[in-house]
Amino acid sequence: MSNKPPMVDLTDTTVLRHTAEQAIELYHSFDGEPVAAAATHEQLLQRFGQSLSNDGVDPGQVIDDLLTWSRDGMVTAGGPRFFGWVIGGSLPVAIAADWILSTWEQNGAIYQTSPACATAEEVAGEWLKEVLRLPRECSYAMVTGCQMAHFTALAAARQRLYWDRGIDVSTEGLYGAPPLRVVAGPHLHESLIRAMRFLGLGSNALVKTTLDDQGRMDLASLEQILQQDPAAPTVINLMAGDLNTGGCDPYREVCALAEQYGAWVHVDGAFGLWVNASEKHRHMLDGVELAHSWATDGHKWLQLPFDHGYAFVRDREAHHASMTMTAGYFIDADGAGRDQMNWNPEWSRRPRGVIAYAALRNLGKSGIAHIVDECCRFAERLVNEIGALAGAEVLSPARMNQGMVRFLDPDGDHDAKTDAVVEAIRAEGTAWFGPTTWNSMRAMRISVCNFRSTDADIDATVSAVERVLAAHG
Ligand SMILES: Cc1ncc(COP(=O)(O)O)c(C=O)c1O
Repeated sequence: MSNKPPMVDLTDTTVLRHTAEQAIELYHSFDGEPVAAAATHEQLLQRFGQSLSNDGVDPGQVIDDLLTWSRDGMVTAGGPRFFGWVIGGSLPVAIAADWILSTWEQNGAIYQTSPACATAEEVAGEWLKEVLRLPRECSYAMVTGCQMAHFTALAAARQRLYWDRGIDVSTEGLYGAPPLRVVAGPHLHESLIRAMRFLGLGSNALVKTTLDDQGRMDLASLEQILQQDPAAPTVINLMAGDLNTGGCDPYREVCALAEQYGAWVHVDGAFGLWVNASEKHRHMLDGVELAHSWATDGHKWLQLPFDHGYAFVRDREAHHASMTMTAGYFIDADGAGRDQMNWNPEWSRRPRGVIAYAALRNLGKSGIAHIVDECCRFAERLVNEIGALAGAEVLSPARMNQGMVRFLDPDGDHDAKTDAVVEAIRAEGTAWFGPTTWNSMRAMRISVCNFRSTDADIDATVSAVERVLAAHG
């Protein structure tokens, strides 16, 4: 059998207009639909798992099937009553820029493959530093998420810490190098450990401090660890927003201590770094700008669709050395523009910074601050009002956009009761919360990160939780 052209017209663009209309309808439907997914894996497999056709399928049909088959198989995480993991919504301008980027089909590897995208990304990088109030001399990388931002920042840290010991890790690798330790509080996010694994540091390089009575890295514990081996190459990881409590570490004091030991301070600010955009809340991040590197997300509080993360590095030289690349087929930009390849771990890449550019321009500085302030206010409302319901208790008061409650069992099995109620709330459909274990207790995490949430959503959510609790006795 000889190969033949597909039976469908591959250049038919009517699918684009059709999809735009469907997407707009879908976008608005998020306000009213149950938040939890209803379809089972078996049902979804039955719908999607057709045999691959020989002759192709009409593009409009492909899109319609995707939309129909998935409708009840989605967690409406982009909607206003999703309070589970820190996910965030998508601004229409960001979705539109995302479509344009796909239509442009640009490779954001080097300036010469897309001068316009490289320039928009360059401006977006500067705007991000301005909004996040980070040192203007920092270099940056636009990656897929905070996980890869950790990877990028720790690669720069590794470069500098070994350079300081006479080793160029980019050429010599880690063979024979003294072990690098990463000191972090027990509230670290696991993505940091995975970055350590990717970089050949190994998860055993992690040394944990204790926390103080406010849930921040304990300074005495940190100093004790540093003193155990004062000359060891060391990265200290601080949290700008503990995933459970929204808590922040004592940046100023840790940075002063780190300087005495030549340690590199890295900040995991996946969502919390955005608090620096808010005049009202930025006191929580006092001194965060003194660190050496920062990692954050665009797909959380900046309200971009997936996948957007940013690394910022004060030591441009180390960052550049750890990532820079060249190939015979590159065209030199003669110093004009920025080759992302020199700062990013990927080779070919989506010039995703263009989407950040569009969102930042659309929002302006006060638009971002407003989203941060509203999310913090809504988190406080949810924690206080759910915590005040009969049979509920606040475990961790709202800090930033996070907080925790639990549900009390008359027979004392609060963990089982909490898990059962959290599941029942999801099944009820009005809102979506996730469970967690915190200080050996099961809890319901409350996280608000979507610009679409309103007071009416909070009212509806509290009423739904009250109904579920009443039904649970
Ligand atoms: C505090 C923190 N750090 C890192 C990450 C990892 O970010 P990403 O999923 O964007 O790679 C997350 C994700 O939720 C997070 O909350």
